[in-house]
Amino acid sequence: MRDKSFAQGAVIFREGDEGFEAFRILEGRIEISIHITGQGDAPLGHLLPGDIFGEMALLDDKPRSATARALEPTRLHLMNAEEFNELFFSDPSSLAPFLSSFFERLRNTNDLLRRELEQRNVPAAQLHQFLEQGVAASGHETLHILPRITISPGSREVRKAGAPESIIIGHLPYRIGRRQAAEGADILSANDLPLRDKFPYEISRNHCSIERLGAELVVRDRGSTLGTILNGKPLGTEAEHMVLPLQSGANQLILGGADSPFQFSVCVEPPA
Ligand code: CMP
Repeated sequence: MRDKSFAQGAVIFREGDEGFEAFRILEGRIEISIHITGQGDAPLGHLLPGDIFGEMALLDDKPRSATARALEPTRLHLMNAEEFNELFFSDPSSLAPFLSSFFERLRNTNDLLRRELEQRNVPAAQLHQFLEQGVAASGHETLHILPRITISPGSREVRKAGAPESIIIGHLPYRIGRRQAAEGADILSANDLPLRDKFPYEISRNHCSIERLGAELVVRDRGSTLGTILNGKPLGTEAEHMVLPLQSGANQLILGGADSPFQFSVCVEPPA
């Protein structure tokens, strides 16, 4: 862990950058903004001493969701993923300011959204429709009447990475990703199937998931670095789709590129 000073106006990081550190503000003020095409940077909020930011890219292994800029001379305390996890376990009281700044951000963002929706007169029905589509895939759901889904390793490497011989999926979404090296760190990754991988990694921390989308069972790439392949079709930020349907019967699932050793067979059978 180390401290670093930034001059007024300095950019700490930009939206879309890769992120390897989280920051706690010791002194100064930070503006968080997102880029709106054709309109420039739109501020989302101002953060003050004690607030933590930059934790999202660190935890979900995705690019920075926003730009951070110093509004005045600022001193920050920098933490990498291991140090950040360590803080959670060694000093749980450090969570209090983190959680309250997180809730405050959510409240501010909700207020911004409310004002924007009111001004634009967006019909509530449009939002209901939007949520139905998104939430169908993210609500935690126990499988009672859905098909029986079994995952089995398709290679020796997958067994070595820690996957059991056969997993019957009991709830959706079912998340697969890279196991964290630091002890206890997996608590922050929310993977149902954490797999060991060595640098340079083929598997991202939040790699893919099996979900229900409307009436279909699908595989979703969760913004992984190297993508996912389902039945020979690529999924991911570089591919045409983030989501593809599972077919009934056998499916081949690959985490990473076509040469990746992390291959699975996913079998979908009608409910008993
Ligand atoms: P990260 O995505 O790593 O980089 C941008 C950071 O900005 C993000 O982590 C959060 O710490 C912070 N952030 C994201 N959204 C908001 C928001 N709506 N209000 C305030 N801070 C935010």
